[in-house]
Order: sequence, then structure tokens, then C-alpha cells
Amino acid sequence: MKGKSLISINDYSKEEQIAILDLAVHFESNPVQNILGSHVISTLFFEPSTRTRLSFESAVNRLGGNVIGFSDTSSTSVKKGESLKDTILTVSNYSDLIIMRNPVEGSARFASEVATVPIINAGDGANQHPTQTLLDLYTIRQTQKTLDNLDVAFVGDLKYGRTVHSLVIALCNYNTTFHLVSPVELKLPSAVKMHIKNKNLKYHQYTDMNDVLKKTDILYMTRIQKERFSDQLEYERVKNLYILKKKMLHEVKDNMKILHPLPRVNEIDIDVDDAPQAHYFQQALNGVYVRQALITSILGIK
Ligand code: CP
Repeated sequence: MKGKSLISINDYSKEEQIAILDLAVHFESNPVQNILGSHVISTLFFEPSTRTRLSFESAVNRLGGNVIGFSDTSSTSVKKGESLKDTILTVSNYSDLIIMRNPVEGSARFASEVATVPIINAGDGANQHPTQTLLDLYTIRQTQKTLDNLDVAFVGDLKYGRTVHSLVIALCNYNTTFHLVSPVELKLPSAVKMHIKNKNLKYHQYTDMNDVLKKTDILYMTRIQKERFSDQLEYERVKNLYILKKKMLHEVKDNMKILHPLPRVNEIDIDVDDAPQAHYFQQALNGVYVRQALITSILGIK
């Protein structure tokens, strides 16, 4: 994986993804190591983030590397009209690896085509969020002891949810049965469903979350993403459709775990947080180990 950008989850083969997860196990046991030396990693966030940016920066700091970047374009020359190409070419000169989040779908691929250093896509609009997928796979494997033959339910905004798109595509490698719960307006896009169909896997679509709770191994909750709606009235209509409460968990499978890429708004009631099924904050922590594995693999540091 040395020198290889990660833009879409399928840019890395199943074997390469597993190698990252296996290396992340090592970093979970040893998260503080002085191995990045003088390497400089850039984090360019054109869109808000808490977990992705800070877990990447924590990953670098704990490995003794250096981080430069921005989390708000208002203090950069983007504000003066600088193009993405010029920004990426410039930052390529200052760093060994660029991690970028940008609201425009396809912007990460474009950046990888002009950059002279590898690019990691930290989310491009409603398209993909492949590093979230790697930490999701890690967390699923951690909780289920396998990635194979699981029933995985996705609930909420399956249309705009980039974490959902990347994870569905990745799980197509593992004979997953997909349970897709969303309002009709926010169904999983056909282009993503095509990946499921191409592998001859099963998927079922629902509008009621209660229909899937008893049969899932992983319940992947997502936020209805207000910022992606062009029609705010449509957002208002769907924003409270799915709210998971602790009392809904009494008949779930023993191994069932609840994941959420976070941030949440109200789709998981806070009374769920101390339920044994709740695993979303551990999931966020796993992001540090998985991103340590990814960064060191791309930089070729063992
Ligand atoms: N999961 C995720 O992408 O969270 P942030 O938006 O806080 O980075």
C-alpha cells in the first residue's frame, strides 16, 4: 500500500483492507510509538469534523509525526479564490501525505490526480468515507469475531450517508445480508445497491426500524443529514422518524451491537449509551488505531 491513495473503499483490495485491520490490532496494543520521525501529514478539512480530523491528528501525534493543516477555509487562500488544484499542488510540497475532507463529490479523486503525494479521502460530500469504513470493519470484527455471514441493518439516511455507501460496498466481500431501513426519499442509491446485486447477496428494504431489531447482528444507525437537503421542509418531515430507545432492545440477539459513525443528533436516545449493545464510542476510539495502521502503511513505515 506504500504510496497508494485511498479515495474509494474499493481502491484497496479485500486483502489490503484486512492487512490494515490486522496492523490496527498491533496499534491498539501499542498506540504510542516514535516511528514517524520527520514525516509531515496534512489535514485539509473544507467541511466540519470532530472524529475524523482529530483521530487522524491523534494517530500522527502518538506516532511521533508532525501535522499541518486547516479545519476552516476562512483562514486560508481558498477564501481568496484559490482553486483546489493549486491548494493541493502547494500542500503536496509541504507534506508527505494529504488527508482531505471536502463537500464536493469527486473532489478527493480529483485531488489524487493532481497531487504529488498520496491522498486519503476523509469524506467527499455524500459519496464515500473509506477510512470510516475501515474502522467500522475493525469494530464489527472486534465485536462479532468475524466479518462473514452477518446480518447488518443500516438505519436512517441511506441516500446521503457516505459512511453507509462505503461500508455497504466493503461488506459485499463477506456474504452479508443487508437490511436497509429508511424513509422512501432516503433509500440507498441504485449505484450502491448494484454492488450488492453484483455479488448475488440479499438485501431487504424497510421503512420501520422495529422490523429489523430482532434479526440483526450489527445495527448501524445514522444521522439524517440536514446539511445535504436542498428542501428543508423535506428534512423536517423525516428528521425524527428513527429514534432508538433502550426499551426497544429487550429482544435483540445476544451478540447484537449498535454502531453509529457519529455525530448523532437524536437518533440514538442517550438512555442507550449504557446498554451492553452500545459500541459507538469504542468505534470512534478504534479510528485512531485504524488510522495509525493506514498512515504507516501508506508511508511505508513498519
Ligand atoms: N464519523 C465522522 O466522520 O465524524 P466527523 O464528522 O466528526 O469527522
